[in-house]
Order: sequence, then structure tokens, then C-alpha cells
Amino acid sequence: MKIRAILVPAFALLAILASKSVKIPEADLHRPTAMPGRVILTWAGDPATTQAVTWRTDTSVDKAMAEIALDEDGPGFVKKARTVEAVTEPFESDLGRAHYHSVRFTGLTPGAQYVYRVGDGFNWSEWNQFRTMLDKPAPLTFLYVGDAQNDIWALWSRLARNAWTEVPKADFIIHAGDLVNRSLRDAEWGEWHEAAGWINRSHVSVPTPGNHEYNAPAKDAARTLTPHWRPQFTLPENGLAELPESSYWYDIQGVRVVVLNSNVKQTEQAAWLDRTLASDPRRWTVVTFHHPVFSAAANRDNKPWREAIQPVFDKHAVDLVLTGHDHTYARSNLTSGISGRAGKSGTVYVVSVSGPKMYNLDREPWMVRAAEDTQLYQVVRIDGDKLRYESRTARGVLYDAFELRKQKGKPNRLVNQVPVTPENRRAAGAKASE
Ligand SMILES: [Fe+2]
Repeated sequence: MKIRAILVPAFALLAILASKSVKIPEADLHRPTAMPGRVILTWAGDPATTQAVTWRTDTSVDKAMAEIALDEDGPGFVKKARTVEAVTEPFESDLGRAHYHSVRFTGLTPGAQYVYRVGDGFNWSEWNQFRTMLDKPAPLTFLYVGDAQNDIWALWSRLARNAWTEVPKADFIIHAGDLVNRSLRDAEWGEWHEAAGWINRSHVSVPTPGNHEYNAPAKDAARTLTPHWRPQFTLPENGLAELPESSYWYDIQGVRVVVLNSNVKQTEQAAWLDRTLASDPRRWTVVTFHHPVFSAAANRDNKPWREAIQPVFDKHAVDLVLTGHDHTYARSNLTSGISGRAGKSGTVYVVSVSGPKMYNLDREPWMVRAAEDTQLYQVVRIDGDKLRYESRTARGVLYDAFELRKQKGKPNRLVNQVPVTPENRRAAGAKASE
């Protein structure tokens, strides 16, 4: 047994040494060409009548465009497509130069299926389809994931595939920050785009920046949002004026979805959110950002952020707050107050993680359900007065669930529907399975 244990690695090492295979350099693996790459749908305006698409090419493409038509059963739509010119901006990453292109389709019909392609007139993407949202309250389904961040290609992609296979008609996906680990590295963004494959070309992404999307260009310099963010995501500029495309909101079929940038300008965003929700006529309000209000680990408390933002959630009866950062899972009951008081009114707070990096959990009374060492995605379905939430593991197993029900003139009613399965916790003294 012992001899075998020594021989197997020795043979494996010899095989590697004898092989002619070499690891492809990142600059080759992620090099842009004239063919559109990293094509991604986002919203920069009203989700019922507009759609944005962004893509990357090499620098030979300086005049880019998109074509769009209403979808049809056969290929006849191709002749009916209209052309929309793209905005092109140069970008230089650690792996070299590229061009990013973006188009904003406007004047679209609510609730209609369209097909589009992007290119330069010679080199085109395939025709991809998307559906505009309705311009009135209607059933809505979306996905939400916490930090993807590490080994995105190798270990996060299976979660993305499984989530979209389980819920193929989801209307959009929220990424609650730390999409990548080292956000100045183009190869990591390449992995992030590749991991979702064609999904990003047909389903809308709603990204929020985490601390790993922030960098200090030099020691003691102020941290800044990665320069990759704005060229590759075409997002609204309707949030805090100093944070274009990283704080923003949408009204989607009766739900207001607000994205905050919890890295910077916290008190300013709290005041902005207070103003924004004061004019919120929507039935449901969902807020997402990276740093948890109630942390899932004792030494990771975000006190200034909680003190700034939590009273705004209470004041405006925000229904659901979706976060990441702590690389564990934790979900609250209806909770109000800065100290996190569970009761018959308040907000449901969630911390979740979708990538493979795992931290220790500090189990606290506010957590209805919690997990360690578990990659999760969440499905939220809103239909009229009912919101149904599910958290599922990377392989699709239901891990947590609840319903929120709107009650006229009263706070929401929370109905916990936690599966009767043990919590995923590591053995005492065991290390994280990073
Ligand atoms: Fe993270």
C-alpha cells in the first residue's frame, strides 16, 4: 500500500515531465479578436421598453453595431432587423488593449420577445433572444447569488448552469458583489464571462460591486472601482450621482429593485435611498449590495454601514435585503432595528455565497437558517401579494425557503418553510473547504 502511494505520484510526475503539453498563457487564452466576445445583457433604462448589450473585440473593430427584430418562428426576422450603432471605447487591461462596445435598444414593446446580434458588419455574434418586461405588475422570477469570486471557471460555472437549468425563465440575475477576486486581472473577468456561457447573452445581469471590485492603484491611494466595471456593464446612472453604474434602481413589474455600492459613500447613499424610496409606489421593494447589515461572522461586522443604512430599511418597510461578502449562508426572520430585533415586522436579510471560497460561520440567534461549505443560488418568485424565496445548493437541493405575504395596512407576514434537513455545518475544529 505504501509503495503504491509513492509510485502513483511518481508516475504522474514523470508523465507530466514527458508531455509536450503546456499551459496556455492567459494573454492567449483571453485575447480579444474581431469576433464579439463577453456579450452581456443589462438594463440601462426601463426594463419594459429598453435593453442594453455590451461586448468586447480587439482594437481592429472601431465601428460596431447591433441588429434587432421581433422574434419569429422562422428565420424571416433577419430581413426585418433594424441596425443600431454602438458606442465604442478603448480599454487597456493587464493583458493588453481591447475595444468595448455598447448599444441601448429603446422604444421596445413591453412583454415581447426580440432577437439581436452584435458585430462589425463582417463578424457577427449569433442571433440571441431576450424578452422585455411588462410595464405593469405581473409575476416576476429572479435569481440572486453571492460571491462567485474564486475558481470561477472551474467551480462556479456548474452552479450557474444548474441555476439556469432549474429556473430557465428567470427574468434576471442579481450578483451581490465579488464577482471576481482580483478585479484588475483581465483573465478573471474572462473566466466570469465564460462561466455563464450563452446565458449572459440571453438573460439580464444585475451586478453590484463588492470589495474585490475595488482597488488602490498605489499604496495609501484612495480605493477606486475597477476600471473593468463601467466598460463591460452598461447600467443606469440614476443612483447617487458620484456612483454612476454602481448605485442604481429599476421598477420591474411592480417590484422596485435597488442596487447599492456598500464600499463607499455610505451615508450619502443612505440619504439617497431615503429619497428614492419616499417616491416608491411599488408593492415590493428589494435592495441588494455586498456588505451584510448583519454579518454572519463576529469579526466581520459592518457597523458604520449598518448604522447608516438599516434605519432606512425600517422607515420604508423594505421587504428583502440580499447580500454577500461573508462566504457563508445566513437568513433572518422579519427583523428591525440596528441591533437586529426579530419580531412581527421588518425586513428579511440574507447573506449568501455561490463560489467555492468558504469562511467560518458564527451561529447567532437571528439566523433562521445558516450554512457553511455550501455553494448556493437563490430563486425569488413574486406574484401579486406573495413572495416565495428559495435557496438551493449548487446541485439544486432545496436548502431554505420562506414566503412573504402582503397584508393590507399591516406588516408582511412571514411563513418559514425551512426543509427538515440538518444544517450544513463543518465538524468542530475542521478547516474551511476552500
Ligand atoms: Fe468575497
